[in-house]
Amino acid sequence: MKIYFFENSAEDNAIVSSLILGHELFFSDKKLNVENADSAADADIISVFVNSVVNKEILDRLPNLKHISTRSTGYDHVDVDNAKQRGISVSYVPSYGSETVAEFTFALILALNRKIFPAYHQLRESTDYNISNLGGFELKGKTLGIIGTGRIGKNVARIAKNGFQMNVIAFDAFKDEGFACEMGFEYVDLDSLLSQSDIISLHVPYTNDTHHLLNKENMGKIKKGAYLINTARGEIVETEALLQSLHDGILGGAGLDVLEGERPLKEEMEIFSDRIPDNENDVKAIVQDHVLIDMPNVIVTPHIAFFTAEAKSEILKTACENIDSFIFGKAGNNI
Ligand code: NAI
Repeated sequence: MKIYFFENSAEDNAIVSSLILGHELFFSDKKLNVENADSAADADIISVFVNSVVNKEILDRLPNLKHISTRSTGYDHVDVDNAKQRGISVSYVPSYGSETVAEFTFALILALNRKIFPAYHQLRESTDYNISNLGGFELKGKTLGIIGTGRIGKNVARIAKNGFQMNVIAFDAFKDEGFACEMGFEYVDLDSLLSQSDIISLHVPYTNDTHHLLNKENMGKIKKGAYLINTARGEIVETEALLQSLHDGILGGAGLDVLEGERPLKEEMEIFSDRIPDNENDVKAIVQDHVLIDMPNVIVTPHIAFFTAEAKSEILKTACENIDSFIFGKAGNNI
């Protein structure tokens, strides 16, 4: 079979080549897009990461395609319904980064509540030892509201309870009361979570149901001065409402590893890209994201919560197993 890997580094190519034998492998460090899709026109299988939007336009250019392997937990960048209609199966990596992403959640929380970046910049830029603007607060005893208590959310709850002695409350469409009892936290409705939490952390997938789960209607209910952490997907938060909440002081700060419109932003930031945003929504998203990036009480990172050596190795191993399951017709849980 002809298997094309996109967004794969040279280091990852070597790992993949040692795991998938007896097939023709093609590698690119670029994301799959309309400009390069024709180069993979004879692909039986493609493997992509989150920056490759595999939509109808792309699928039309890959007539032999039988399987899409995304090396990510979220698969909202793949038009799964359209693939299904064409008889193309899709596999994902459900559980690689649950510790990695949970730990990163606390990197964002601690950077915000202990003002690590303002302190760092103050010393570097002015050698000013005045600490009057750098006061923080302890996490112990504060309330963390976890939205989505799946694999990552559960690890966040464990770290919050066991590591920082925080109070935890959670919201989930499918409650795990056994885990809540074991960890000593309660499920509440979304509005109660917003009004009671000192820190809100998002860990739901991006679906039709979670599109703008936090929005103009409910962000006003957030406890004044709370922090919002988003390592899930940008589109779960309505960016206009986020900007307004930060502007009005409803949110005291935000730690965002993901942004609504992060794909056009990434393209705009790539020095060698000659792509000019071609629709109004992309332009609006890019402008809003720049406003967020420039805010002193907002930390934006370029979608790196997953990015540890351990998680990367797990991703490649599972993605190659998924491809193997597909080729040998095994019933793979991840397909
Ligand atoms: P998971 O599937 O284990 O857990 C998701 C939880 O959300 C489940 O408990 C589910 O019941 C709940 N949920 C689903 N729809 C809901 C709704 N409409 N309302 C309330 N709760 C709902 O997923 P996991 O592994 O914890 O990952 C969560 C998300 O984190 C992924 O979907 C992905 O988008 C994101 N992620 C981000 C990474 C990054 O690098 N920033 C890396 C890995 C994952």
